[in-house]
Amino acid sequence: MSTKRIEISKEDLDRERDIMEQVAEINSRLPSPPLALVDTYGCQQNEADSEKLRGMLKMMGYSMTASEAEADIIVINTCAVREHAEQRVLGNVGALTHTKKEKPSQLICLCGCMMQEPGMAERIKSSYRHVSLVFGPHVLWRFPEYVLRLLRGEKRIFAAEESDGVIAEGLPSARDSAVKAWLPIMYGCNNFCSYCIVPYVRGRERSRLPGDVEAEARRLAGAGYKDITLLGQNVNSYGRDLDNGVDFADLIRRIDAIPGDFLIRFMTSHPKDAGERLFAAMAESKKCARHIHLPFQSGSDRVLKAMNRRYTREGYLELIRLARSYMPDVVLTSDVIVGFPGETEEEFEDTLSLVREVRFDALFTFIFSPRTGTPAAKMPDPFTRREKQARFDRLIALQNSVSEEKHRSYVGQVRRVLIDGEDGEYLTSRTSGGRLVRLAGDRSLIGQFKDVRITDSNTWALYGQLI
Ligand code: SAM
Ligand code: SF4
Ligand code: F3S
Repeated sequence: MSTKRIEISKEDLDRERDIMEQVAEINSRLPSPPLALVDTYGCQQNEADSEKLRGMLKMMGYSMTASEAEADIIVINTCAVREHAEQRVLGNVGALTHTKKEKPSQLICLCGCMMQEPGMAERIKSSYRHVSLVFGPHVLWRFPEYVLRLLRGEKRIFAAEESDGVIAEGLPSARDSAVKAWLPIMYGCNNFCSYCIVPYVRGRERSRLPGDVEAEARRLAGAGYKDITLLGQNVNSYGRDLDNGVDFADLIRRIDAIPGDFLIRFMTSHPKDAGERLFAAMAESKKCARHIHLPFQSGSDRVLKAMNRRYTREGYLELIRLARSYMPDVVLTSDVIVGFPGETEEEFEDTLSLVREVRFDALFTFIFSPRTGTPAAKMPDPFTRREKQARFDRLIALQNSVSEEKHRSYVGQVRRVLIDGEDGEYLTSRTSGGRLVRLAGDRSLIGQFKDVRITDSNTWALYGQLI
């Protein structure tokens, strides 16, 4: 599929920077800095976008708050991937009528994937009258001008036009963590899996230039980030739209060559495009985490075909064998959908048997959620929610027993972990494979790599001691 690459011009981005200064000027006249809250739903791509929204808000003179009641501006960055996520968003937006009533000057803004769905902006316009601004992911870079227009008295702005998507370089970003960073390398998706709304709301695949990605990775490493996750819906097709001969395996090698002690992670890989070049680059890299998140979605060939995934069960298993031949200790995680339209008991058993055969370290499991506009939403779906839930529970029980066994095999081993935060009485850390290790220690260790001896485990985590 050919893509027209639209990079936002420097002039346009400079204009938004000027606008940020104008807003900061307006805000500086207030007795104290105004407060902003950004609430994020969905995937890491949205987390990365929210860091940009916070970066822009800070440049416009806002301080961050966690209080909806106190916020002068609330931005809700939405996800459309499953109905449940949408309902949560709409419920929370509805509840904001109260804060708006108490504070009529409050600006309530909705952005992200849900806003790009056909009819959604109209629905917000007519049924959620306390919302001031709606904008889609393709115009995120124009957020400052919308804020300025609202501050100047415009009542409501709706900006969620159809677009194949753009690339906006150089937006400020206020990162959540000082240890781990998201690094989007591409946007959008061309795969049109029959159940998935992402290609409709996020536009076509477009890659950032390798030089831009590398420069950002260099800045992150220089700033002391220890864990850099390269983001894309299908990182294995990185560069196909650029025609410069650089593919994802090359990109890993280039980032691996950047000086510094940091881990390179990435998500997500699509099995149809993953292969030997990727595994070789990972195995030869010093910094690449020994972890692949490789969603299989279903273990049945009939269902995989109906999902338009473009690989077979055997092709997937072969890929796993290949990955393990390059990296025997690689940690494997995956996504799986239960209850795809028409999935029979036998086909579900194929998913269970694949899970038994691969023995993933962890699984992200979802019950199929029909998304209007996708082919799967129109497929006959004779099984009830209850039947699907029962299958889902069986899958979770199986995976939990595998995760528990896998975790137990770590006990007694020494692993290098990155200490990344704290949780109650424990410090939290991750192995190269991304397994959570809780340990006792001082919070001054956050941001450091340390060797730990694994002393205990359960289904979800490992426990360790610093050595
Ligand atoms: N691009 C990634 C890939 O193909 O592996 C996945 C991105 S999607 C945001 C994350 C996961 O959500 C998918 O792997 C799939 O398991 C799940 N998902 C997507 N659409 C869904 C739907 N309509 N119902 C249930 N789960 C869905
Ligand atoms: Fe959705 Fe498939 Fe694209 Fe992943 S690869 S975002 S599941 S269409
Ligand atoms: Fe959701 Fe959009 Fe991500 S639909 S999962 S936030 S790309």
